[in-house]
Amino acid sequence: MTTQAREGAPAVKSMEKIVSLCRRRGFLFQSSEIYGGLNGFWDYGPMGVELKRNIKEAWWYDMVTSHNELVAPPGAPAPYQMVGVDTTIIMHPQVWKVSGHYDLFHDMMVDCRETKRRYRYDQVVGRWVEYQGRRVFVTVDGEGPTVEQDLLQRALKFFNLRSKQADQLHWDGPVQPLSSVEDRSLVLGPDAKEPGTLTEPREFNLMFKTYVGALAGEENAAFLRPETAQGIFVNFKNVLDSTRVKIPFGIAQVGKSFRNEITPRHFTFRSREFEQMEIEFFCHPEQSQAWYQYWRNRRFAWYVSLGLASDRLRLREHGPEELSHYSTGTADIEYAFPFLPPGKFGELEGIAHRGDFDLRSHMEGKLDPSTRPLQVELGPDGKPRWRGSGKDLSYRDETTGERYVPHVVEPSAGADRAALAFLCEAYDEDQAPDDKGKMQSRTVMRFHPRLAPIKVAVFPLVKKEGMVEIARDIYAQLKKHTTCFYDEKGAVGRRYRRQDEVGTPFCITVDGQTLDDRTVTIRDRDTLQQQRVPIDQCWDVIQQRLRSPEQ
Ligand code: GAP
Repeated sequence: MTTQAREGAPAVKSMEKIVSLCRRRGFLFQSSEIYGGLNGFWDYGPMGVELKRNIKEAWWYDMVTSHNELVAPPGAPAPYQMVGVDTTIIMHPQVWKVSGHYDLFHDMMVDCRETKRRYRYDQVVGRWVEYQGRRVFVTVDGEGPTVEQDLLQRALKFFNLRSKQADQLHWDGPVQPLSSVEDRSLVLGPDAKEPGTLTEPREFNLMFKTYVGALAGEENAAFLRPETAQGIFVNFKNVLDSTRVKIPFGIAQVGKSFRNEITPRHFTFRSREFEQMEIEFFCHPEQSQAWYQYWRNRRFAWYVSLGLASDRLRLREHGPEELSHYSTGTADIEYAFPFLPPGKFGELEGIAHRGDFDLRSHMEGKLDPSTRPLQVELGPDGKPRWRGSGKDLSYRDETTGERYVPHVVEPSAGADRAALAFLCEAYDEDQAPDDKGKMQSRTVMRFHPRLAPIKVAVFPLVKKEGMVEIARDIYAQLKKHTTCFYDEKGAVGRRYRRQDEVGTPFCITVDGQTLDDRTVTIRDRDTLQQQRVPIDQCWDVIQQRLRSPEQ
């Protein structure tokens, strides 16, 4: 990023302000808002759609289009190929049986018998508290920054005390998960009036169910995909047979996924409909660890190259207890979202070493998805009973003649999570001069130019003396190349500010001098510096500055 106009520390990121800006300036709206909204669903407005498209396009361009298969990129064990697919959201139901999603893709939930609310078991946290000999475990449904404060409020309300009586409460032990409490009759649910109303945890499958065709019977049941990855695995053979790709290679896909999250929250962070950007990278089993390392580093560097600050971004290796049923190693790229308590990070992308789990499962099916190593289910005759496709999804190396089931490394990113992280990272407040040179506070979205929804705005300084005609002409020319905005209304300082608020990196102003020498100023959003450039060089100058190091 370019030097910032402000001296001193960046503004504290406030989720409230970011959400309000997103709504006010057309980044994000609640889905079906005029009907009261639908929890867990979000619409992107005119600015948001450009931002998200830019993220997806940057990902596709950097990972697929611009990838040069003839040379190994820095850190890669070898040169590799990349191709893409676009597969359906509804797939054969057997896909989800074999992938393990049908049996294992669930969260544990608890219901409150009193309020009829439902919570994710792992998200309910609480603390033991005693007042006048009565001891309860007060809880909140919380990952937020105010858990301690919320617990105090819950306890005060339960014991009918005022804030100034808080010191009469006797707290026992730290904040703990609900699972730490054996006697549920002492648990005060997050919204309940009396203790003992939470049910025992139950499994809740996160896949949305639907029916294919006119009959809504079980035999026609199907699911909206909870990940785009399976569309890639089931097409592994098609891609091999229809292209000349050879291992190592990756197949990329961007598309919608759906999860019936029990508690969608934190703006778009956990939505029920979202977009994923996934790569399944197929390699020789002996090389898979090296490729896993490569993709961890490569993906981390991608976010940094687009302006996510390294101190809010981290790469964290999963402990064995955190690994998915298919994974023998996973690292998360995480971002310190402002809605989380200080020091806590939220997942942006997972890079998983999936071994041969998926291809082998789609070949053979298996007895128990949680069992490792894989076991093939045997029929009464002692022969394998195929629950997979029965198709041979192994790979034959033409040079060595070796046949094997490839291992897979999967960098799996969320487009909406990335958009949210870029929005949070971009948000800033500082001071900038107004038309009279007086410093005024401004809100500025410091998007990387590649991601900015509008790349350039064009203004005539004033609406006279031929400036409008020239400005409109520049606008018409630039529109052919990029997203461009024309504005001739109000003081120019106000026009700059409106562009700063949506993160437009460059503003071109046609002024009196333009009429003499056909030069314009290009004002930089971050440095506030103005460069004078001949009109016919505007696009070249801007194009140069729009590039990121990845390009
Ligand atoms: N194929 C592997 C897979 O789907 P995941 O960790 O469940 O792995 C990958 O999802 C990414 O998808 C996450 O890192 C996140 O960015 C995004 N994602 C997952 N669930 C999401 C949700 N409910 N809302 C928004 N994004 C989500």
